[in-house]
Amino acid sequence: MEFLLDPEIAFLNHGSFGACPKAVHDEYQAIQRHLERQPVAFLQRHLPELLLDARSTMAEFVGADRDEIVFTPNPTFAVNAIARSLNLGPGDELLTSNHEYGACSNAWRFMQEKTGFAIVRQSIDLPVNTEDDIVEQIWTGVTENTKAIFLSHISSPTALTIPVEEICRRARHRGITTIIDGAHVPGQMDLDLTKIGADAYVAACHKWLCAPKGSSFMYVSRELQPAIEPLVVGWGWGDSERKFRSGSDFVDYFGWIGTHDPSAYLAVPAAIEFQANHDWPSVQSRCHDLAVHAVELASELPEVKRVHANEFFRQMGLIEISSDSNETLIQQRLIDEFLVEVPVIRWQDRVFIRISVQAYNTQEHIERLITGLHACLRKSA
Ligand SMILES: Cc1ncc(COP(=O)(O)O)c(C=O)c1O
Repeated sequence: MEFLLDPEIAFLNHGSFGACPKAVHDEYQAIQRHLERQPVAFLQRHLPELLLDARSTMAEFVGADRDEIVFTPNPTFAVNAIARSLNLGPGDELLTSNHEYGACSNAWRFMQEKTGFAIVRQSIDLPVNTEDDIVEQIWTGVTENTKAIFLSHISSPTALTIPVEEICRRARHRGITTIIDGAHVPGQMDLDLTKIGADAYVAACHKWLCAPKGSSFMYVSRELQPAIEPLVVGWGWGDSERKFRSGSDFVDYFGWIGTHDPSAYLAVPAAIEFQANHDWPSVQSRCHDLAVHAVELASELPEVKRVHANEFFRQMGLIEISSDSNETLIQQRLIDEFLVEVPVIRWQDRVFIRISVQAYNTQEHIERLITGLHACLRKSA
């Protein structure tokens, strides 16, 4: 299975930006060349139909209806669109956790400063014991003022799978709007949006689905769609002059945000097909085993502790090192001296190393990481 990564590097950070297989990237570039041959025909005449097809494939893959899904460049964009639309104000509370991705937390904090709602950040303590414990720790933060819940499905700094389906179920009973950040989910876990029952769900295609960079999606249920405003007001808005008419305001608002290159969106079906043709459930299971193996090997080092039981992570294993560690220095030494690309993350005054395992990773990559850790941790101690 050919990826375009530098073969010299033990690339254990798929979680940050993903990596695209050559076959998918070729398709992406073919779409770009097609666009450049006749930009007007492509962007003005063919694009609505092409996007419709790509959205249909995406929607089917994640268990949603076609007009509940729009492409966005990335999850940050989608969270911004939702945070700006919800009209939370003084007296309202947004419930979230202490495991959220910083850029998305910023989108909420920015709106909080503008409109004066409160953000309640529940702690999920590590290590977690059971799924029920996670749900209870979050649910303790619900009050009569909770209007919305924003949670990751798989967290970024701590690689924790959060049981969002149960949270969404409880929230529905109380009329609380749920927004789930599934940036790490498509391609890493099966996703059935109907079953999860969130009001809104954002996810990256450019991470674990291995689509080109700049491809993501935002799902909004039909009930919530009337509340969602365009983040960029363009030709998709306005009754008389609207140039892109799909029959859905939600789709029109996000279907054309000014001239841009839509090739990454249009290559998403190729990424879905690539994974289907390569028996992805087996790849995911092999990667999980390798991630477990990496965590186990690393935790044989005296300076390393494992964090999650195996059922709480998929293809990103998490280990913990001393909070006195210099995380920037260790990450830099691992890449400079050992050619190992892996994130060393400071979170809540603890230091974690998040080991992403994707189809292209090998036992040798893990061994190199362990050798590097051994050297860096011993010296830094
Ligand atoms: C949980 C989570 N949410 C959102 C994002 C944002 O992704 P992007 O930078 O593509 O918008 C990330 C990126 O790593 C993430 O890990």
